[in-house]
Amino acid sequence: MSENIQHVTVVGAGAMGSQIAMVCALAGYETDVVDIAQDAVDRASEQLHARMDRDVSKGRRTPEDVDAAFERLTFSTDRDACAAHADLVIEAAVEDLTIKRQVFAELDRVCPPHTILATNSSNIVSSRVADATNRPEKVCNVHFFNPALVMECVEVVPHAGTSRETVATAVAFARSLGKQPVELKKEVPGFVANRLLGALRAEALKLYEDGVADFEDIDTAARTALRHPMGPFELMDMVGIDVVYLIRLAEYEQTGDPASLPAESIKEKYEAGEHGRKSGKGWYDYR
Ligand code: 3HC
Repeated sequence: MSENIQHVTVVGAGAMGSQIAMVCALAGYETDVVDIAQDAVDRASEQLHARMDRDVSKGRRTPEDVDAAFERLTFSTDRDACAAHADLVIEAAVEDLTIKRQVFAELDRVCPPHTILATNSSNIVSSRVADATNRPEKVCNVHFFNPALVMECVEVVPHAGTSRETVATAVAFARSLGKQPVELKKEVPGFVANRLLGALRAEALKLYEDGVADFEDIDTAARTALRHPMGPFELMDMVGIDVVYLIRLAEYEQTGDPASLPAESIKEKYEAGEHGRKSGKGWYDYR
């Protein structure tokens, strides 16, 4: 465990927030996962229990480790009470700048002065929320990948005013989770891994929209020619087409570059409510 951190509060109990919280609890941290709605918290609890049961039944974890992790993990709707004793808050709420700024301003009011306020956002760089707080030097991005229980990479991204101490603590924390930290020297929307992925996804969408190949065949090429674990369309379904759409829009807001706008086929799927695995249909049909 990281010596400066004992208690972690994760804000947002969606797929990312809940798995990030589970990773922290498994690594020994007292952890809260909080959301506004009780049903979101209940769903997170149910899904994490199912996932841990599966890991135990497959012999990947011991029942003792899992029980101990759940003992350390609190599911709550009372964000401020949880954050009041956090050493690190990881915000994994919706990709909306106005909401994030409000959350950071409120966290700044309730957290102790030493608390690091991190956002898991891959696209909203922390300088855009840091000035909503009185502790910009303790604000940075700590970006996990989906599914957070499995993926090893965690990007740590400081803004120009983040202190070296905050970066060092965040990097040590990521390592203490058994993750592989990747430290960026400066902010850039999308960071490193998503920019690589974005280039592949943009090309895949172009090939599809130009009628060069079916999306299934493009996925097959990525899996069998490049040995990617899943193709770009399968991956969009897993991450969520709504997430992909909103990330593109957020990037467009930051860059003003029309090339950042979501591809036409993504916009259509987003508007049709075809958001991927979670909605039963995206590129593929899961019903
Ligand atoms: N949550 C937790 N664990 C999961 C999981 C999930 N949603 N999906 C799969 N796993 C784990 C389970 O342990 C599973 O074994 P089980 O089914 O026996 O329990 C194990 O992974 C293997 O799963 P599968 O047999 O279903 O399939 P794979 O071998 O293909 O592995 C995968 C699944 C790990 C998701 C793999 O396909 C993969 O690595 N895909 C690429 C993921 C990726 O690129 N992620 C980055 C996305 S970009 C991002 O996150 C950025 C953000 O900003 C949007």
